Amino acid sequence: MSKPFDIFVSVPPGFEPLMQAEMLERGFTGATAIAGGVTFKGHWKGVWRANLELRGASRVLARIGGFRVFSLGQLDHLSCEFPWAETLFSDIPVRVEVTCLKSKVYHEKAAIERIEKGLRTSGIPVESDADIVLKVRIENDYCQFSIDTSGDALHKRGFKEATGKAPMRENLAALFLRACGYDGNESVVDPMCGSGTFPIEAAEIAMGLAPGRERNFAFQHLASFKPDMCEALKQAEPRQTDLRFYGYDRDSGAIENAKGNAERAEVSDHVTFAHQSISDLQPPEGTKPGLVMINPPYGARVGNKRPLFALYGTMGEVLKSRFKGWRVGVVTSDTGLAKASGLPFKPSKETYSHGGIRIRLFQTDVL
Ligand SMILES: C[S@@+](CC[C@H](N)C(=O)[O-])C[C@H]1O[C@@H](n2cnc3c(N)ncnc32)[C@H](O)[C@@H]1O
Repeated sequence: MSKPFDIFVSVPPGFEPLMQAEMLERGFTGATAIAGGVTFKGHWKGVWRANLELRGASRVLARIGGFRVFSLGQLDHLSCEFPWAETLFSDIPVRVEVTCLKSKVYHEKAAIERIEKGLRTSGIPVESDADIVLKVRIENDYCQFSIDTSGDALHKRGFKEATGKAPMRENLAALFLRACGYDGNESVVDPMCGSGTFPIEAAEIAMGLAPGRERNFAFQHLASFKPDMCEALKQAEPRQTDLRFYGYDRDSGAIENAKGNAERAEVSDHVTFAHQSISDLQPPEGTKPGLVMINPPYGARVGNKRPLFALYGTMGEVLKSRFKGWRVGVVTSDTGLAKASGLPFKPSKETYSHGGIRIRLFQTDVL
């Protein structure tokens, strides 16, 4: 496809404006927030860049074409004529997923059969467990073909082998850091760091490391892939930074995991992890005030809620009394727990979706 086409960057509900801000900052001109993500027009290079560079993205879909359709017969015919070979290889199987909405073609299984027939007619193998996914949306009688160019969801950077009970997804951690005004120019402390997601993301941002620098993507198995051009996009050198990042947790196993994750991400020279309860937390010596970013346990996911009120109370006391000059961001599902901290949070009504739970970010100004 030599003409620019629509590229859709998906994020969980609520994160669209933050994703759009990241994309505009990174030069994805025309990035427009819509329900469930951000869309822009581009070429395959834009698809590769979006996968490699965007910290907030969940997936990148390439809208490879579509047509109006009013019957299964028409879908059959137009699918057989579609130029599949421009995007797909004849030796790499594809899986088809269909959603039908407000359309004359409403039977999803029947639609899958017709589209699979079209693919096979063009010599593209179809398998139900294939890694390459063709997502088809038939809405208001328009059939849109999109290829999932990411493969594994993009929060899987490839470094976090070890996780605890309720790890934050890396892309959401990056978006929450952005929402707190973090731009890679200050230190970040996470007193309940679990697998270390916030300090590791913050260090990577400060060092200018691309989130997709080591992992593989579905787009590498598409006919449009040009390995040399894509490799050239990865050439940026890490930025030098004197900033340090800190993660603590009362669970020593979590700290061991976090250290391993930081080593694999090659940020361990900049990140200190230590086994410590929040009640012993002190601002790191010799570090200018920056951002305290916390995702404490919340009852809906981990354990029972009642003891958590005391934990949030201790967290608030420690931060108010010892962290003058720092800002605080707390990600939790529970407004009551956030209030129990007694921290002076700014008003905010935004909610976000994380693993089926509605969560919120509570932020303070400088304490
Ligand atoms: C929701 S998890 C944090 C997950 C983390 N953001 C990640 O991405 O892996 C909450 C963490 O708080 C830790 N925690 C609970 N009570 C604590 C306390 N009193 N002091 C320090 N850490 C505590 C738990 O061990 C757990 O790892």
